[in-house]
Amino acid sequence: MGEMNRKNIQQLFSCEPGCEVVVKGWVRTKRGNKNVSFIALNDGSTIKNMQIVCDGAKFNEEFLKDISTGACLCVKGRLVESMGAGQNVEVQADEIEIYGKADPADYPLQKKGHSMEFLREIAHLRMRTNTFGCVMRIRNAMAFAIHKYFNEHGFYYLHTPLITESDCEGAGEMFQVTTMDLKNIPLTEDKKEVDFSTDFFGKQTALTVSGQLEGELGATALGKIYTFGPTFRAENSNTPRHLAEFWMIEPEMAFYDITDNMELAEDFIKYLVQYALDNCAEDLQFLNDMFDKGLIERMKGVVATTFERVTYTQAIDILTASGEKFEFPVHWGTDLQSEHERFLVEKHFNKPVILTDFPKEIKAFYMKQNDDGKTVRGMDVLFPKIGEIIGGSEREASYEKIMSRIEELKMDTSNLWWYLDTRRWGTCPHSGFGLGFERLLLFVTGMQNIRDVIPFPRTPKNAEF
Ligand code: 4AD
Ligand code: MG
Repeated sequence: MGEMNRKNIQQLFSCEPGCEVVVKGWVRTKRGNKNVSFIALNDGSTIKNMQIVCDGAKFNEEFLKDISTGACLCVKGRLVESMGAGQNVEVQADEIEIYGKADPADYPLQKKGHSMEFLREIAHLRMRTNTFGCVMRIRNAMAFAIHKYFNEHGFYYLHTPLITESDCEGAGEMFQVTTMDLKNIPLTEDKKEVDFSTDFFGKQTALTVSGQLEGELGATALGKIYTFGPTFRAENSNTPRHLAEFWMIEPEMAFYDITDNMELAEDFIKYLVQYALDNCAEDLQFLNDMFDKGLIERMKGVVATTFERVTYTQAIDILTASGEKFEFPVHWGTDLQSEHERFLVEKHFNKPVILTDFPKEIKAFYMKQNDDGKTVRGMDVLFPKIGEIIGGSEREASYEKIMSRIEELKMDTSNLWWYLDTRRWGTCPHSGFGLGFERLLLFVTGMQNIRDVIPFPRTPKNAEF
């Protein structure tokens, strides 16, 4: 039987007892005595282990000694009804091949509970734990659900470049991309500037912070597109919610105004949460029981509720009238800090909040300008425990207005000419947003730290594995 036809442990649990089976996986635990040993084997297909029963008459003690936590096995045997509590079937082993041993003297993932900090140091092994198995399976399910949602709603998946010349968010948080010899950087004739004309692309380039600008080109041709890929931010924030490399989902829609944009964001995120509830029940139950007793309830709550829509100005009024002592004081014009966002979501409204109409000074150049001359049609979706999960806006469609903002900000337009062409020819009302994939995963796994919902986190001073 070829590997493609072999059933994994998840599938074996719904098989009738009696059949011959081959099970391959990694040992979680082994216990027993001279007469019989029980091995809990996991292959990653489910949180549940398959119990392998080894009759002492068939396997000698010397051989069984090499089977310890972390070892990889191929077991041939028979699926039988289980007498023990906790599982309906188990495997009565006839033959065991040890693919790879794991010496208990140095294998770091022994049975005892490890701290999340320690597991980050052994991120190359942590997917072998129950917790990270759950998180990675949920991550996979969410990625699939994202493509499914957009595919069912008439969006095209657009691949935007990772290497770019333009800083979409204008925050100057880009990682440079260069093939220049850093020990011998070529300078211009007056020795005042770096001569990028000799660099690989003949100009200064960086890793993208967002696929939005190219996404807008797609939307103004294909109608509705989305991107889903890695983005990079060289922001030096060591927080449980920031990564230097994170995945972002960015839908961009022609003819959507800010209200359509809000409706899509709410529908999309509810669909994803419901998808997790429907398709990841066992993993969610484990995470709920182990880490976050309110996880499943919070997820159901979000699906059932209507998100509160509030303008930035209203939010500032609520915050100043609240009498709360904030670490960062609030007044009109300042960017909201996570403590303010969480106050609004967790204490004041007790549900997700969509904030709109921010002061133009704290938002990017591309947002549609309101008639008041002060605010722009941005939207942030704020979630319990997380704060901002989505950032987006209606886009400024008028060439004159976007140019005047660009001039106010003294932005260099030499590498944005192609973007401005959308406003020159066939411009249209359009909107979009970016959902931080790992922020979504924080919400649907209940994990506390964003480093624990991506296999190999990149953060300041940390790029191992
Ligand atoms: O609010 P941001 O910066 O918006 C944009 O990049 C827009 N161009 C998106 C668009 O309109 N197409 O980022 C969008 C989302 C945030 O709401 C947050 O969820 C996530 O991306 N995000 C991060 N996630 C992890 N680590 C970081 N350093 C993040 N920065 C933003
Ligand atoms: Mg934002």
